[in-house]
Amino acid sequence: MAAQVYSKKDKKFPVLPNLADYEKLHAEFNWSEASKELDWFEDGKLNAAYNAIDRHAKGDRKDKLALIWEGAKGEKKQYTFLDLFKLSNKFANLIKNKGAQKGDRIFIFLPRIPYLYTAFLAILKNGSVAGLLFSAFQEQALLDRLSDSGAKILFTNSELAKRVEGIRSKLPELKEILIVDTPEFENELAAQPDSFETVKTDPSDFAFMLYTSGTTGKPKGVVHHHYAIVAQHATAKYVLDIHDTDIYWCTADPGWVTGIAYTILGSWSCGVTSFIDEGRFDPSRWFQKLQDYKINIWYTAPTAIRMIMAEGEDLPKKYDLSHLRHILSVGEPLNPEAIHWSIKTMGMPFHDTWWQTETGCISIANYPTMDIKIGSMGKPFLGMEAAIVDDAGKPVANDTEGNIALRPGWPSMMKTIWQRQEKYDSYFINNWYLSGDRGYRDSDGYFWFIGRSDDVIKTSGERVGPFEVESALVEHPAVVEAGVIGKPDQARGEVIKAFVVLEKEYLDKVKTTEEAQKLKDELSQYVKKHLAGHAYPREVEFIDKLPKTRSGKIMRRILKAKEMGQPVGDTSTLEEY
Ligand code: WT7
Repeated sequence: MAAQVYSKKDKKFPVLPNLADYEKLHAEFNWSEASKELDWFEDGKLNAAYNAIDRHAKGDRKDKLALIWEGAKGEKKQYTFLDLFKLSNKFANLIKNKGAQKGDRIFIFLPRIPYLYTAFLAILKNGSVAGLLFSAFQEQALLDRLSDSGAKILFTNSELAKRVEGIRSKLPELKEILIVDTPEFENELAAQPDSFETVKTDPSDFAFMLYTSGTTGKPKGVVHHHYAIVAQHATAKYVLDIHDTDIYWCTADPGWVTGIAYTILGSWSCGVTSFIDEGRFDPSRWFQKLQDYKINIWYTAPTAIRMIMAEGEDLPKKYDLSHLRHILSVGEPLNPEAIHWSIKTMGMPFHDTWWQTETGCISIANYPTMDIKIGSMGKPFLGMEAAIVDDAGKPVANDTEGNIALRPGWPSMMKTIWQRQEKYDSYFINNWYLSGDRGYRDSDGYFWFIGRSDDVIKTSGERVGPFEVESALVEHPAVVEAGVIGKPDQARGEVIKAFVVLEKEYLDKVKTTEEAQKLKDELSQYVKKHLAGHAYPREVEFIDKLPKTRSGKIMRRILKAKEMGQPVGDTSTLEEY
């Protein structure tokens, strides 16, 4: 079936887009030229935080607004590049005094408040490695990440700190917890000088890490180096189409890579004014922000878009969106309906972008001036080579399904998986980086997403490993074992569903539907409370026995096929079913 195309031919941009002709620039682009847009120290040293903030604070943009912030209770604050420079210097002096050294892991567990951003910048300025913890994490998720990384210092607030109390004794390497909403912290911060000698890091020195999930095992620490900012800067310029006059809103939390690469690093490196909203998602409130802050560029996620669409076509029409120029999406498949909807209600299409925690920058995208084949993820970023390969890493023909792969060597490819070299190595085959996603490329070079090749779940755009959820469930006394899958869902993309085998004594307690429902709810809440607020099963089903391979691995593929009423496929490795 021929794809529907949204042609850009007659569309005028209010400002000239950074990229006029994709094919031409793709042929000409090279990373060493692109890296010249960054400020380098002598001897080839590069610090990402220096490039995001310091260089602007020392130049023409020093009095330009870098951050316009609105708190969850409607508080408002604004910071220029110079303000962020000084404040992050104070933070850097503070952690240095606490003994933070180059290479030390320093974690941040905070809601989207300004101190989250200044702490992040400070950690990089000090040459330490910033780790981010999404504020929905509970004890188990925190313990896994803080202990695996050997975090030395943790920034948090008094509310979130309560979740760390119970696991503190299990974290011998955690020397210091800094609670940023206390008078003690404020006093200590105020006493710090606002100048700091930013560490002249090597481009390949570790800058930040994020834990992300695969099919098996606990989440793994994806580590990025300072040089990643070269790719984040270039993508912010050409894909997000950032110009000096723009006001830009990326709705992602820095607990996920989008919030780091495109609120802190790539976007500030381009000198943009960013709006940051601490509050929760709410369709009308979000449109109010688009209007009030005169947002020009809006980078958001499909789940939010679908929930906005559910409010009806009148919602966007109630607001003055005349400043909006470019809107984009990332994190999960963007339904064609969402693009038709935005054209109809906002007069412009959402531009889908594809990438991952591991790729560190937008890797496949619909560019501002490029025609959109509605439903496609677009074309590879400038200077990047993408392909569809088979399981042996051999490229397949156009229009053939295979693994979405990238040629290693772009600046923001993950540097390592923290202390798990074998995990890192397992991403590569035949000189290709395999993403774990399936898709195809059409004869015009557009890439199309099909699904994951593994059991990773995407719920509301957030990546969840089934093993983490299963491990949390079996901690409950009622549970013998559990198998967890992503079940397709209209709004959330997928919801987490758990199949649970109950202990004998509990079986007797769930004779009626009400009793069963009560226990199901209890299990959901249990995961929500112990693992994470976003990673709990919204559906629980009791089952006598889980399908397993002869070697004892849960076959989630079969649970999923059964759930979807599809044929279960090859069961030759199945124990018995
Ligand atoms: C996975 C990566 C890096 C941004 C936040 C997600 C899925 C991402 C798309 C898209 C379909 C997408 C993939 C990918 N994904 N973008 N445009 N269309 N699927 O980062 O948490 O590491 O998740 O998100 O499955 O592998 P992440």
